[in-house]
Amino acid sequence: MSNWNIIKSEMEKYLERYGEIYIPDTIEKSVDDLIGLEKEKKFLDSFFMALKDYEKNKDQNLFPINVKLSALLIGPPGTGKTTLTLALAKKYQIPVLVVFSNTLIASLLGESLNRIRNLIRQSEKYSKEQGVMILFFDEIDAISSERASQHEVGEIKRTVVSFLQELDFLLEKKLPIGIIGATNHPEQLDRAVWRRFTYKLEFSMPDTQLKLEILRYFINKIKKSKNFSINFEPESVIELTEGCTGADIERAFEIALLYSYRNQKGSSKNQITVDIFTESISLVKGENFNYYQSSKNKNTNKKNDDYSYLDNFSL
Ligand SMILES: Nc1ncnc2c1ncn2[C@@H]1O[C@H](COP(=O)(O)OP(=O)(O)OP(=O)(O)O)[C@@H](O)[C@H]1O
Ligand SMILES: [Mg+2]
Repeated sequence: MSNWNIIKSEMEKYLERYGEIYIPDTIEKSVDDLIGLEKEKKFLDSFFMALKDYEKNKDQNLFPINVKLSALLIGPPGTGKTTLTLALAKKYQIPVLVVFSNTLIASLLGESLNRIRNLIRQSEKYSKEQGVMILFFDEIDAISSERASQHEVGEIKRTVVSFLQELDFLLEKKLPIGIIGATNHPEQLDRAVWRRFTYKLEFSMPDTQLKLEILRYFINKIKKSKNFSINFEPESVIELTEGCTGADIERAFEIALLYSYRNQKGSSKNQITVDIFTESISLVKGENFNYYQSSKNKNTNKKNDDYSYLDNFSL
């Protein structure tokens, strides 16, 4: 077992359900598995390169001022923020400690503070021993957002202030740790937290061109597969993907694969048709659900427990 694997098992005991460590070689997706995102790839790639440079020169005091490597990734769910970070970590062979900020903060606030502090102290210890690493705060707005407002105001303030102190502590240490935060709600982020991140990178909803490319990528993957075939081109389903992210398109293909597998067992290849994809994307978008219908059309006659659409679409 490599050092990082030993640390992973040690750290994970300690992290409980508040985070996860990704060792580069076990990260599944590569940069090329993310379609488009050229600007985002270029930017984050240079962040990772800077981290590597920093590590190489850390004992030589190369930089006359302390360079703090922190980046905030902003964008809607499913636009590739986590996946791109992990894919680059794989490319540059840097382990990533992902902190689930929402789970961390969900329990008693006072306790969360200790957890954040411990997490940061442990990261400091491990990066001193092992070298470069990324500390990734997923849903960082959970630590300092309006969502915490059910708690007493003073307590929220204390959590944010303490979190900032811990971040500063780490950033001042001249350690090869890159701090990345990801958020879907930049407007809810405390200004002081926002300011701690040197770089800000926005991930957008995919435009039509990018969605066509993402569709083509998955269609080609299926075409090349042994057990499945597909009989349509991206253009014939593009309209169905209105409002969808890359993650939605990927999930629709996952459902379509399961569905065609279940329903065409026995045939030499399981075929994914436009109809199957249509149903799949509709499920992903939640269009069959009553609450979706009723929010679109208040006069809907559907009952709340009407799941009849599942009769002709069961997995
Ligand atoms: N441009 C893309 N090309 C291919 N796959 C994509 C693309 N964008 C997203 N995906 C896929 O969607 C899935 C979800 O992406 P990811 O979890 O990275 O999104 P996220 O921005 O971190 O979302 P969240 O804000 O909910 O955490 C991943 O499996 C990813 O590979
Ligand atoms: Mg994510």
